[in-house]
Amino acid sequence: MKVFEIAPVKYIDNKMLVLDQTRLPGEEVYEEMHTKEDVWEAIYKLKVRGAPAIGVAAAYGLYLSVRDFRGTDIDDFAVQLKDAKDYLVTARPTAVNLAWALTRMWDKFEALGRVDVAAAKSALSNEAEAIRREDEAACFAMGEYGLSLLKPGMGILTHCNAGTIATAKYGTCLAPIYLGQERGYDFKVFADETRPLLQGARLTSWELSKSGIDVTLICDNMASIVMKNGWIDAVVVGCDRMAANGDGANKIGTSGVAILAKEYGIPFYMYVPTSTIDMDTPTGDDIHIELRDGEEIYKMWYEKPMAPEGVKTYNPSFDVTPAKYITAVITEKGICRPPYEKSLAALFK
Ligand code: MRU
Repeated sequence: MKVFEIAPVKYIDNKMLVLDQTRLPGEEVYEEMHTKEDVWEAIYKLKVRGAPAIGVAAAYGLYLSVRDFRGTDIDDFAVQLKDAKDYLVTARPTAVNLAWALTRMWDKFEALGRVDVAAAKSALSNEAEAIRREDEAACFAMGEYGLSLLKPGMGILTHCNAGTIATAKYGTCLAPIYLGQERGYDFKVFADETRPLLQGARLTSWELSKSGIDVTLICDNMASIVMKNGWIDAVVVGCDRMAANGDGANKIGTSGVAILAKEYGIPFYMYVPTSTIDMDTPTGDDIHIELRDGEEIYKMWYEKPMAPEGVKTYNPSFDVTPAKYITAVITEKGICRPPYEKSLAALFK
């Protein structure tokens, strides 16, 4: 698939680089990560964001934390690695890909049997690259599965950004849109702006329009009218953590879009790589929802404060869409249908 080629995380010439997404769409700037603290801050401040991209960044960040380890004692190396893992996992709580990638890196290290520092470094570097590569392949596969649910000329609504820059490449829910464009599907995409951090406005409308896709930006409170107008045939969204029963946490506002879609009889598709499915979390009620600073609501992107100083705020970064509103879950292993308890569990057998 030819797609707009921009990677959110790169590791080249022994340098870890992160595209600073807080500067988009105005500036395309990569920042070099030197320490685990740099990586923690990049994730916390959403310089790198989107569940799969956070996983890739965490994996490279963990490798970075031991890359310059000078000693030869493998147990000292293990302590440094474990400290970094325990630290990086605290950057953001909701996207399970963060813990998933760090655990996978740690398990790789342990599987070597704690013999040699050089071998451990090399295995960790390879594992981070494997996580990146596998995510790219998973996104490509989700593109094919997702496209099988769509028809040429459809109007498609999306919320937040689950595109190329939220993943290793292609995106999750934007992958079928890129694939469809190559195959002449001529989709009309509507992007919710996604308050408060404007991932839809700053990122989705940027990456889609740069790729020549027909995209219309709307405010979040306009989703209902475009559905009522008959302009939307399908809703596609990403996911940060899906519980074993199919409840899916995604960017704040997603559950409202799902409820509207149900009302208007529009299919609601959630794109969820298996790295985002958390079978240890039984239901959406068990998902930890990140709360962020209220200044993001009234100050962050504006010259002047948009509310009185000191106003009380409530700023959850995600909400949970109950499984009953999700028409299908698209994974890299295939399309899951309700009852999700069964269809999700079958993916891991
Ligand atoms: O706060 P963000 O920008 O990291 O939130 C991102 C989302 O909610 C995405 O929809 C989700 O991570 C899926 S990305 C393929």
